[in-house]
Amino acid sequence: MGGNSAMCSSVECATHRLSIRSSFSTEQRGNGPTAPVIFSVLARGKANGTIDFMLTIISGTNRPESNTKKVTDIVVQIYRDLGVPLQLLDLQELPPDLFAPAAYAAKPPAFARFANAVLEADGLVVVMPEYNGSMPGVLKVFIDHLKFPESFESRPVCFVGLSAGIWGCLRGVEQLQQIFGYRNAYVFPKRVFLPGISNAFNAQGGLANSENFQRLREQAEEFTQFVEKIRGIQLRPQ
Ligand SMILES: Cc1cc2nc3c(=O)[nH]c(=O)nc-3n(C[C@H](O)[C@H](O)[C@H](O)COP(=O)(O)O)c2cc1C
Repeated sequence: MGGNSAMCSSVECATHRLSIRSSFSTEQRGNGPTAPVIFSVLARGKANGTIDFMLTIISGTNRPESNTKKVTDIVVQIYRDLGVPLQLLDLQELPPDLFAPAAYAAKPPAFARFANAVLEADGLVVVMPEYNGSMPGVLKVFIDHLKFPESFESRPVCFVGLSAGIWGCLRGVEQLQQIFGYRNAYVFPKRVFLPGISNAFNAQGGLANSENFQRLREQAEEFTQFVEKIRGIQLRPQ
């Protein structure tokens, strides 16, 4: 990264920010560590095995048997069908020592994979449940341990919320939007909320209500275009 790039303020120079990211991507993606097992790369990479542009999707709780993970799997399939490369980041797989107080000073080595999955992403998709009218604590802990300030800086992000109750995590998503806004992310305005999640699935594990699926599909199509425009990249095969 050149000296001039480092002098640019993130607010003043959106175009230059893209070139900073682009040079980071070339160095880190081509020669960096291969994708770890827990971040199975779910779609195409370059022919030489390195990862091209991609999204990272975050399943935003560590609760076992999570409905969030079920919705995440549906969203993953939607992006796969669109031909968008993506990595899955499941907070159930966070290293337990991340929750030790010492982790603020020295991150557990196993967390590097999570941090890098965010840094490598051209866009983030957050699927999150409503816990006590808010986001799960583990999701905030995860965010608090990501590299600052570059993890969300100029990074497009979109949200899917779900809950047992009638609000579909509206409050939690809006609280998380505030955090991403504070961190200078590009928040995609079209959110999807899935209320009544306990009864939302059919016997095959898909969404029982086809309108819910359609809303997720439209969000994915439009978020893909949003990322492509903002980053000046092509996520999908030509
Ligand atoms: C700790 C906790 C807090 C919850 N708080 C709310 C809530 O405030 N509003 C609501 O509608 N549902 C609430 N629920 C129900 C969840 O939205 C529902 O169980 C959903 O499936 C949670 O996602 P998960 O299965 O991925 O954990 C809560 C669940 C848990 C475990």
